[in-house]
Amino acid sequence: MSYFIGIDSSTTATKTLLMDDRGAVIGVAAAEYDYETPRPLWTEQSPDLWWDATCQSIRQVLAQTGVPPAEIKGIGLTGQMHGMVLLDQRGEVLRPAILWNDQRTGAECDEMREKFGKDRLIDVTGNDALTGFTAPKILWVKNNEPEFYAQIAQILLPKDYVRFKLTGQYAIDKAGGAGTQLFDVRARNWSEPLLEALGIERGWLPPTFEGTAQTGVVSAEAAAACGLVAGIPVVGGGGDQAANAVGTGAVVDGVVALSLGTSGVVFASNDRPLIQPEGRLHAFCHAVPNKWHLMGVMLSAAGSLRWFRDALAPGVSFDDLVAEAEAIPPGSDGLLFLPYLTGERTPHPDPLARGAFVGLTVRHTRAHMTRAVLEGVAFGLRDSFELMKEAGLADVTQVRVSGGGTRSSLWRQILADVLQAEMVTINTAEGAAYGAAILAAVGSGAFASVPEACATLIQVTGQTPVGQNSAVYDEVYPLYRDLYPALRPTFSAVSGQ
Ligand code: XUL
Repeated sequence: MSYFIGIDSSTTATKTLLMDDRGAVIGVAAAEYDYETPRPLWTEQSPDLWWDATCQSIRQVLAQTGVPPAEIKGIGLTGQMHGMVLLDQRGEVLRPAILWNDQRTGAECDEMREKFGKDRLIDVTGNDALTGFTAPKILWVKNNEPEFYAQIAQILLPKDYVRFKLTGQYAIDKAGGAGTQLFDVRARNWSEPLLEALGIERGWLPPTFEGTAQTGVVSAEAAAACGLVAGIPVVGGGGDQAANAVGTGAVVDGVVALSLGTSGVVFASNDRPLIQPEGRLHAFCHAVPNKWHLMGVMLSAAGSLRWFRDALAPGVSFDDLVAEAEAIPPGSDGLLFLPYLTGERTPHPDPLARGAFVGLTVRHTRAHMTRAVLEGVAFGLRDSFELMKEAGLADVTQVRVSGGGTRSSLWRQILADVLQAEMVTINTAEGAAYGAAILAAVGSGAFASVPEACATLIQVTGQTPVGQNSAVYDEVYPLYRDLYPALRPTFSAVSGQ
């Protein structure tokens, strides 16, 4: 039998998943780590952590399953996007990686808009400058740590550092490359004019590969470190969101993946590059060859419900809390909730945005507030859907849901009614690591294409069709939309800016 490995180097752990050539998950092992916050809003991590955790989790999954390493026919990589790893000429790490959730680069985002023009930046890269992306981090090092900048020989993402340790090769996948914001997203490769405008040398950036293309093979040294055999092909893989979309089957036009964890992500696969004209959605290359995707990221989705429970109903289970909200009518009797508890990314890229309950009266109970939270999050996700339509997304036929929040049938129904699309649950929950293993299996020829592999492996297990409340939500949604512009000056004032 042949087996495939998917490795997900996330912000908090590295997960290694072993899958057989029929797509069954045989074993999963994870090794955890922390990240540093050397200053408020800064987040950094030592690349050694990812490599040590990779070796540990590969060894563990092999030991657990007893699968002979010689039967592993391919490895796919995924991981946190946008993080910046700097290497010197000897391939040594120059400074800790600066991560996707680091917020230090506001001035460098302005510098990018000035040097290349905001409209041109959106048109070429698909995105407006964002503090989380890789490009402004490189400029930050130039502006603040010239001693390191002078020694840069190679710039990688976290997953691609793991690739370098596994194979000895410098390479990056197209999805990750687009997430650096140095790509011409249509051309699926580095934008020479942008690199020139920002003074970033082409030679510092690795060659780019589609998600299923072979980027190298496991070296003898890496094989010894991880308990593998030398020569196993390592494919391009993809950033965690794109690989997660593969793992949930959001790989064809019209199928959207919605994940409702702490943050909420709406991900739509496209056959051609679509760009929201103001850059208010992320537009990146997909991990599926020659496909693109649009993505909206809400920072506090199920995180809003957790906050609400912890602050106002400590000790109450989510199930009990949500059950109370079932009895409340749609629209929560005029109560609205804005979910910007940790600032926002889509549709308002504003770190100063704040949460709010609006419309409270003495008639409102805790159950109303709970329902307003569930509805407010759904309205915030609808903002991403609306932006996707503006960008040219064709009709959404199906939304594949994952993440803790979607275990609630009430929340799934509210989402179906607010987004006016059927919500479906699927048979896999391993997300990005599973997607990376699928990319490796396709790369080795076990399946003809990623869509074919997904159609074979990923099955729909439940459906929540649009219910009768969508008309009510259509009336409430414009009221929700009016809140942010009205409250923005107050948000700035209360945050002291
Ligand atoms: C995607 C993003 C996160 C990180 C961390 O744009 O910022 O998904 O990749 O997981």
